[in-house]
Amino acid sequence: MNDADSAAAPVRWIERQGFAKINLTLHVTGQRQDGYHLLDSLVVRAGVGDRIRVTAAETLSLKVNGPLADGVPVDARNLVLRAAEFLDDGAGRGATIHLTKNLPPASGIGGGSADAAATLQALAELWSVPLPVDVSSLGADVPVCMETGPQRMSGVGERLIALPALPPCWLVLVNPHVAVTTPAVFESLENKQNPAMARQIPIFSQARDVAEWLATQRNDLQAPALKLVPQIAACLGALEDALLARMSGSGATCFGLFASADAAEAAAARITRDHPDWWVASAPLLS
Ligand code: C5P
Repeated sequence: MNDADSAAAPVRWIERQGFAKINLTLHVTGQRQDGYHLLDSLVVRAGVGDRIRVTAAETLSLKVNGPLADGVPVDARNLVLRAAEFLDDGAGRGATIHLTKNLPPASGIGGGSADAAATLQALAELWSVPLPVDVSSLGADVPVCMETGPQRMSGVGERLIALPALPPCWLVLVNPHVAVTTPAVFESLENKQNPAMARQIPIFSQARDVAEWLATQRNDLQAPALKLVPQIAACLGALEDALLARMSGSGATCFGLFASADAAEAAAARITRDHPDWWVASAPLLS
């Protein structure tokens, strides 16, 4: 929180980061009657994200800027405003919400959900209201984006188990700037009933152990997404230096797991040089 000095009334603003959500695994284990899929996923956050800043105001409004702001809606299509209205619950509170968009939209790293979670957290503080217990109606990935450490996510995304911190790991995120429609990827998944993750997720001592274990698990959406967006294969190929490379969520962002910041930064620099038109970020895995 910040009370900026001003000659008139102090301007009160609160800032939160909407960190990228990474599905280190994503097993699709079934489908509900309503069409939503049952998942078993190891979810972490990467230290790169959008920024939400909320300022007290009479009415509710959204402004978007940042390197990836193009085409991001500022009306009720944006989950940020839906989250604000959900928290307000008809009371008519106001705020100006500034969203700085650093993450590519529709890219499998939960940008919209992370923004919604950050908005809920910032506005709950600005308005001095409690956070809602259940935020899953805003979107399947919003509950996990309210958390920071590693989570085992199941159900359609609403069941969370906090896991012990992972050892230091770094991620390189690569996106070919092709937006992916999540429902299209789920629809083209042929087998909806795949085995869950291992019952017990081991305690890891170093990044290499994490990668070795992850290699025994899957992202079931990777194969259908690859058929819809062939550029994903090139992203995975570009991450060849990583201990493990995999797609996150329904894509198209792929992550590479690295044991050191230096290795991750070197890989990110090389990929940026070879593919100047891609979005590439290197960040620590947040534990
Ligand atoms: O909940 P959210 O709006 O983020 O989900 C977007 C779409 O992704 C849903 O409409 C659904 O088609 C698909 N989805 C799914 N199973 C999940 C999560 C999302 O089928 N567990």
